[in-house]
Amino acid sequence: MYRTNTCGELRIENLNQEVILAGWVQKARKMGGMIFVDLRDRYGITQLVFNQEVNGELCERASKIGREWVIQVKGKVMERSNKNPNISTGDIEIIACELNILNVSETPPFTIEEDTDGGDDLRMKYRYLDLRRNNVRSNLELRHRMAFETRSYLNGQQFLEVETPVLIGSTPEGARDFVVPSRMNPGEFYALPQSPQTFKQLLMVSGIDRYFQIVKCFRDEDLRADRQPEFTQIDCEMSFVQQEDILNMFEGLTKHLFKTVKGIDLSDFPRMSYDDAMKLYGSDKPDTRFDMKFVEIQDLTKGKDFVVFDSAEYVAAIRAEGCASYTRKQLDELTDFVKRPQIGAKGLVYVRYETDGTFKSSVDKFYSQDDLKTWAQRCNAKPGDLLLILCGTTEKTQKQLCELRLEMGSRLGLRDKSQFNCLWVVDFPLLEFDEELGRYFAKHHPFTSPKPEDIPLLDSNPGAVRANAYDMVINGVEIGGGSIRIYNSELQKKMFGILGFTEEKAQTQFGFLMNAFKFGAPPHGGIAFGLDRFVSIFAGLDSIRDCIAFPKNNSGRDVMIDAPAVLEQEQLDELNLQVALKQK
Ligand code: AMO
Repeated sequence: MYRTNTCGELRIENLNQEVILAGWVQKARKMGGMIFVDLRDRYGITQLVFNQEVNGELCERASKIGREWVIQVKGKVMERSNKNPNISTGDIEIIACELNILNVSETPPFTIEEDTDGGDDLRMKYRYLDLRRNNVRSNLELRHRMAFETRSYLNGQQFLEVETPVLIGSTPEGARDFVVPSRMNPGEFYALPQSPQTFKQLLMVSGIDRYFQIVKCFRDEDLRADRQPEFTQIDCEMSFVQQEDILNMFEGLTKHLFKTVKGIDLSDFPRMSYDDAMKLYGSDKPDTRFDMKFVEIQDLTKGKDFVVFDSAEYVAAIRAEGCASYTRKQLDELTDFVKRPQIGAKGLVYVRYETDGTFKSSVDKFYSQDDLKTWAQRCNAKPGDLLLILCGTTEKTQKQLCELRLEMGSRLGLRDKSQFNCLWVVDFPLLEFDEELGRYFAKHHPFTSPKPEDIPLLDSNPGAVRANAYDMVINGVEIGGGSIRIYNSELQKKMFGILGFTEEKAQTQFGFLMNAFKFGAPPHGGIAFGLDRFVSIFAGLDSIRDCIAFPKNNSGRDVMIDAPAVLEQEQLDELNLQVALKQK
């Protein structure tokens, strides 16, 4: 038997028991005639004691062991004289009587402790060592619990977990595909799925009725803190449902996860239309942990010779409570913030509502105290508050004001990671017009159904058509998204037409789906959650990388296994890729 107990298990109740433990040496220190070793495994840390006086030979051997050696120790559980309240085994120690060195270790490149001295790159290179650290491993444990509870909830609701293929065909919509050359079909390529979207719809045609899959998806897009090239979805689809059924089912799943994993009871999720989300927060994923909604004041600013506002399509303010005392330096910082190229505002106008009831603004030359008062009233400002105002074209300015709002929320400590504000954003537009390419794109994907009452607009004003599409947003992060699907092959054909597909192209790329729809497709809809994002919200992480066992870095590389990498010529030949290589 390698061990009778784990390193996180023994308590004062186990006093005098003979035990065997096995694990990694976190730390070994000599004090007088004693050697103290912190032995670690996944479950915790237990202190071992080797005593020179009791067993000199054993102590001599123990004095040689180093950090991260793998050892097995037999001994007796004793009460510690110096208890450690910070760890669960802190009341006891093991007086060792046998030591078996199972493996030695080189000195690790960084300390395997909560506060490690290893930088990001080094920890990614030695990710298997990083995973020995408590804080990283606990994220994987959380991920496991969430996946487990997801399966439990969906299983209880009659969902079947069905695996769909990973080698599929390339589709042009959405992000770029990762492709895989086919040796047996020279010159032809598979693509890795960006999501199992078409397969889950086919499963509905097959009568599976309720499908889910915890599934890897692949997207070749620029990486950010909340994006990885391979990530995991909780992918779901249901037949004979309307939007309301989906929202209820998956609000139920989310509440179940919060309850079972975090012990939090959530009340019903508010719903917000896409239009309201953009108008009030400048984002389709508003962080509703704090208020600071946009207030449009353009009509109040017109006609006072301030050309910047007069010529703007949109002028809006946010109210920062109690911030009238901001110094010149703080205001300059905010101005610099909005002028950064990533945000791109030309400038920032402020109005301080002083505690004595007067106003001081950066546009005092143009606006009287009475003018500024009307702005303050519209914003529900009180003495002591600060108004921050941006102007320009509507969409651009809303995005900039959204960034400023989030920045102010962070500065004012209003984005508490232990508070969870969930909501549904609904009524997304079906289509988005790309000015550069001069054509419409599907806002969600081409299988999303228009709202029935908006179908007549498809011909006259496609941009105004709303979709039966919804996103679940938690604390400003899009955790999941889905839609009710088109299940009529004629409407699907029409949709491909609007998206600029020729009939031929639609047939080659999606013929299988449109054909399937001719054989009795039920009304259906679904949703997919980003599991990585869900876990990182639960764990309060800034990046989804920290809840993925072996993530990619920002250049899409796995620096541990050094992938991607060049292939041997032989392998390229076999794959018929020599031409591509020559071109390079
Ligand atoms: P969508 O493209 O909105 O919908 O993706 C669903 C959810 O997946 C997560 N997500 C990502 N997570 C990490 N890294 C990425 N690169 C990444 N991209 C997306 C997000 C997102 O909300 N087939 C549809 C769903 C449906 O209609 O049922 C789909 O994939 O949390």
